[in-house]
Amino acid sequence: MPKSKTRYVCQSCGSVQPKWMGKCPDCGEWNTLVETVVQEPAAGRPVGAALTGGAAPQPLPEIPADGYERIPVPIVELSRVLGGGIVPGSVVLISGDPGIGKSTLLLQLCDALAGPAAGGQPGPVLYVSGEESAAQIKLRAERMGIRSPNILVLAETHLESIAAQIEKLQPRLVVVDSVQSIYSDAIASGAGSVTQVRDCAAYLLRMAKAQTFPLFLVGHVTKEGAIAGPRVLEHMVDTVLYLEGERFHSFRLLRSAKNRFGSTNEVGVFEMADKGLVEVRNPSEAFLAERIPNAPGSAIAVTMEGTRPILVEVQALTNPTTFSQPRRTANGVDFNRLLLIIAVLSKRARARLADQDVFVNVVGGLQVDEPAADLAIAVAIASSARNRAVAADLALVGEVGLSGELRSVGQIPRRINEAAKLGFTRVLIPQSVARKLEHRPAGLEVVGARSLREALEITLVAGGAEEQGS
Ligand code: TYD
Ligand code: MG
Repeated sequence: MPKSKTRYVCQSCGSVQPKWMGKCPDCGEWNTLVETVVQEPAAGRPVGAALTGGAAPQPLPEIPADGYERIPVPIVELSRVLGGGIVPGSVVLISGDPGIGKSTLLLQLCDALAGPAAGGQPGPVLYVSGEESAAQIKLRAERMGIRSPNILVLAETHLESIAAQIEKLQPRLVVVDSVQSIYSDAIASGAGSVTQVRDCAAYLLRMAKAQTFPLFLVGHVTKEGAIAGPRVLEHMVDTVLYLEGERFHSFRLLRSAKNRFGSTNEVGVFEMADKGLVEVRNPSEAFLAERIPNAPGSAIAVTMEGTRPILVEVQALTNPTTFSQPRRTANGVDFNRLLLIIAVLSKRARARLADQDVFVNVVGGLQVDEPAADLAIAVAIASSARNRAVAADLALVGEVGLSGELRSVGQIPRRINEAAKLGFTRVLIPQSVARKLEHRPAGLEVVGARSLREALEITLVAGGAEEQGS
């Protein structure tokens, strides 16, 4: 019988320590040691001793193609992120900040698969809740108008009991909310420990593969945003999804960080409403819904979320500072990127921002980290500083270089098509791309600019220029 003992493994350098320490003595990183139960090797057989009966290699063409019949998911935004429906036997780990809507989304998925809408006969789906009571889930379901008798709720944290129920019910979908709350009494270390989480997940995963039911695991995130518990969880599962968004904004983005059955470039957009998450089929329209046309300090950027172009409004406000050091506040854009853009505006476009507080905000709680949004950020700031509006029908795309030049970015055709689709009649892009552009959507004027300065001349000449307070 192999003996097991508890050891502490550094998640940074992989060294194994006999006891827990705040700092790894090998690599010097803090808080990287996690408890792990290691098995001592069974005595008797030396490592690498010849064995018979293992798997035999197969020539590639002779391997039968696993034509997995995907289970269609009527929630289109979710289906697309998964790669077009759910692969039976696949394991999906979904994580995100507390209260972001993971349980809500999964309850909606249960509802979608419990009914006959999922193709074929309605069947039972199992929602295992380790954190909320059955009554709490009922309350949520009630609010969302979900009342399918095929959704079976099991408030249980004991792995073996859960496994027994799965055996008995043969559900067509299993949701475990959350994987961190499950424990097995066959594992020596305490509930919630890294070993428990890893081994329980591995057990459920093997069940899912053997019985070919899709398994959705909710994973908690740490303060830093990584999935809590063993890193190996992400390696074990087929798909890792993150549900993101700002708590005080209603938009939610579902991204895939890993997908063995589809692209990781897809993004699903939802909005949290009173009856759960509502799909946002046209995100650009939603993000621009409350925009006031011709307001100074507002510019439209065309950013990409994966392969999907999304138009967002970048707002800037400049105001004389009351401090010795002017303030810069970035919401939805990278702070250092903002400092860089302000520096380029000051030096290359003669914007006077040294005594101005600058606030930048991306509407809708979206985080835009793409350099392609630089131009819109710069134009929004200049627009506020000069109190001149940017024409309402103009969209902007381009990276700003340190010399004040506009640099090309990827996927311009997709971006300008999206702008045209939403009724924009002009789009300003770097000259280098504008020259080479082959296809221009009808009704859309593509304007090229070489530098930020040129771009500002084009964008900020529009009528209604009322220089106030200067
Ligand atoms: P929840 O799915 O419980 O989040 P998670 O499982 O990721 O922790 O969602 C909780 C939040 O969503 C909660 O703050 C209330 C809000 N919510 C709505 O706004 N509308 C709804 O219909 C539901 C079910 C939740
Ligand atoms: Mg939850």
